[in-house]
Amino acid sequence: MKILMVCLGNICRSPLAEGIMKTKLPEDYMVDSAGTISLHEGEHPDKRAVKTAANHDIDISQQRSRPITRKDFEVFDKIYCMDIDVLDDVVSKTKNEEERQKVSLFLEVMGDRKNTEVPDPYWGDMKDFEAVFQLLDKGCEAIKNQLSK
Ligand code: 4NP
Repeated sequence: MKILMVCLGNICRSPLAEGIMKTKLPEDYMVDSAGTISLHEGEHPDKRAVKTAANHDIDISQQRSRPITRKDFEVFDKIYCMDIDVLDDVVSKTKNEEERQKVSLFLEVMGDRKNTEVPDPYWGDMKDFEAVFQLLDKGCEAIKNQLSK
């Protein structure tokens, strides 16, 4: 099973989601992350994301930002999008129904109709990053349970 986490810049939310998910799944699962924009390509995650993960004993410091590519739709089985703009962008890159079926909102599995998006902490502070971490941790746990069904 190959899982791709996607946000806008691939320096805050999806690197955290990747790091968290890797701690929850067995090693034969592949987890990666990407962004819908290439603005931060090649950069390590935002320092605040690195620190927040480290506070929970997760090391995401070696990740590098990359934009999503067409190949990702072949390689990955599941593509989880952090918010609706990201979902719309990713869906617009799909070529067929098989690819479309791989794409969903990260928080959809939680079944909460109101809170469907992981808020972008980029313009916030460490408290926002910690809140996003907690939300991602819950989402990753729910996804793990769904995948093992
Ligand atoms: P992310 O956060 O999508 O969670 O990685 C952002 C990072 C950078 C920008 C926006 C959001 N930016 O506009 O540069």
